[in-house]
Amino acid sequence: MCLKDKIYNISTYLEVFTAYTDIFFCEAENPQTKENIKLKIDHSLRVFKNAQKIAKSLNLDNKSLFVAELAGLFHDIGRFEQFTRYNTFKDDDSLYHGKLGEDVLKKERFLSNLEENIQKIVFDAVYNHGLIRIERNNEASLLYSKIVRDADKIDIFRIVAKYYKSSGPRNIALEYGLKDDPYISDTVMQKFKDKNLVDKLELRTLNDFKAMQLAWIFDLNFEFTKEYIQKKAYLDAVLDSITATDQKETLKLLISQSM
Ligand SMILES: [Fe+2]
Repeated sequence: MCLKDKIYNISTYLEVFTAYTDIFFCEAENPQTKENIKLKIDHSLRVFKNAQKIAKSLNLDNKSLFVAELAGLFHDIGRFEQFTRYNTFKDDDSLYHGKLGEDVLKKERFLSNLEENIQKIVFDAVYNHGLIRIERNNEASLLYSKIVRDADKIDIFRIVAKYYKSSGPRNIALEYGLKDDPYISDTVMQKFKDKNLVDKLELRTLNDFKAMQLAWIFDLNFEFTKEYIQKKAYLDAVLDSITATDQKETLKLLISQSM
């Protein structure tokens, strides 16, 4: 294989990713930590695949496809050090994992064989992926930041839908301990009508929490993502679990107008 083909070959980087994350998995002492590390490994690999699908839907050339795959694969690379250092994935209780991801990529020199502009794009996409709004808005990296944000949301919707469909025990911590009162608060409803994201500080009920998750659709960038989420019926799973009967119909209508 020519050097050029080797450099732009994603399988080389899948090996790098696996070698790095295996260390965290193997060295984790308690089973709960192992499980958490495994969840992030699997999530990263699914986001890599999602980024690949989005890039292909946009007919990107091979080099751009490779960059999108790379950014998807490494988007959560900061999660492993975050969990090992702080024993949590909550950024509020530790640090922003997108910034840590960029730092890990630089420290480990995972991308050092690539051109500087590709490195910069991946650093930006990793940094931008988990923010409420894209901060590093430069022309070269914006497309890739959008691809990774959509690729990540597809998998988050998958996880969320699976959670609401399961009859297993509720994860009270994940739901911020919110009560299942049968209504959506006025402020949350207004945000939804304005097609805005909902801040978790505004949540009063479990239905607010679900509306916050549904409002992530207002931050999707590509038709492929919308179609994929619809096809998989992820939003229906969340909607079905909402106990605010009248407001649910309003949400459905607003969702159908946006998707
Ligand atoms: Fe992610």
